[in-house]
Amino acid sequence: MINDTLKYLAGSAGPSGYGSKSTADQVTEDFASCFLPCSRNLTAIITGATSGIGEETARILAKRGVKIVMPARDLKKASEVKEKIQKESPEAEIILMEIDLSSFSSIKRFCTEFLALRLPLNILINNAGKFSNKLEFSEDKIEMTFATNYLGHFLLTELLMEKMVETAAEKGIQGRIVNVSSVVHGWVKREHFCFNQMLQPKKYNSTRAYAQSKLANILHAKEVSRQLMARKANVTANAVHPGIVKTGIIRDHKGCFTDSLFFVASKFLKSTSQGASTTCYAALSPQMEGVSGKYLTDCNETHCSGLADDESEAQKLWMQSCALIQRRLQR
Ligand SMILES: NC(=O)c1ccc[n+]([C@@H]2O[C@H](COP(=O)([O-])OP(=O)(O)OC[C@H]3O[C@@H](n4cnc5c(N)ncnc54)[C@H](OP(=O)(O)O)[C@@H]3O)[C@@H](O)[C@H]2O)c1
Repeated sequence: MINDTLKYLAGSAGPSGYGSKSTADQVTEDFASCFLPCSRNLTAIITGATSGIGEETARILAKRGVKIVMPARDLKKASEVKEKIQKESPEAEIILMEIDLSSFSSIKRFCTEFLALRLPLNILINNAGKFSNKLEFSEDKIEMTFATNYLGHFLLTELLMEKMVETAAEKGIQGRIVNVSSVVHGWVKREHFCFNQMLQPKKYNSTRAYAQSKLANILHAKEVSRQLMARKANVTANAVHPGIVKTGIIRDHKGCFTDSLFFVASKFLKSTSQGASTTCYAALSPQMEGVSGKYLTDCNETHCSGLADDESEAQKLWMQSCALIQRRLQR
């Protein structure tokens, strides 16, 4: 543990050759020369690319020639990000589309519109995130953090899965799904991980709700990975912890307490580009070819919590999510 902390603070490289201080630019630059011709033919959907880690992920992938589809709930903000990226990479292809990840009907609409474009889909980065301070419900009557961070991405992945499997088979290039989770998934106790309680908690605790949604992101990646392997599809699914980055994620929690927490944790904070490195590594690195069902941090595979690694828990969550979404969409 102390050893790991010292390695983190020093930015020592792990087996991948990268560590906590590696930036998204560095981890993609190292293989860009050999991989660039290939990445020019890739299309990626990145959720939550209007700010923070997602914006940096979009900037770097676009710089490496990947066509970016940016689903956003605020199209004005998205078009400002697009302009910024194209200023740096004038040839970047960026398509803006509307989505609200807390709404099943909006996700369905986005997928129908995206599939109608008949584009290939090589990479899906489930990055958007919400850390709701108070108990709020989505239009589907689900607690907002769980609805946005987990169930929204669950439905998005389900509706795009066939397209990803098809693209991988047609192009012979492995598809990649990356779920952006968090180290805080480890704070969740088994007795608190109850599906119905997460949908409509009786006693709301914002940190617990956020941690539960991030645990669900890992279980989801692991279950999707198992299902893809079982059908021999050439698509991988992994989860990452980006590190602690001062972004908009804490916008609902602004105040003295959060400011002091960030001050105390300042030695552990990453820059946004360091925060986007593990996602970019999982999405593009040749070292990740064939690697699936894993949890990564600082661009290296690492251990997640026992609960996150529990196969039966992942299957149960997947079935409960499917059943719930079916019921809600039939209404
Ligand atoms: N920052 C950290 O320290 C940290 C640590 C561990 C994990 N993470 C994870 O990293 C990911 C990115 O977070 P971040 O730190 O970059 O936060 P951020 O700057 O707040 O970005 C969050 C993004 O998600 C989008 N989003 C939120 N709700 C949405 C909805 N209903 N529909 C569509 N898009 C929505 C936001 O869009 P708007 O611009 O419209 O608000 C924004 O683009 C999250 O999954 C977060 O849990 C972050």
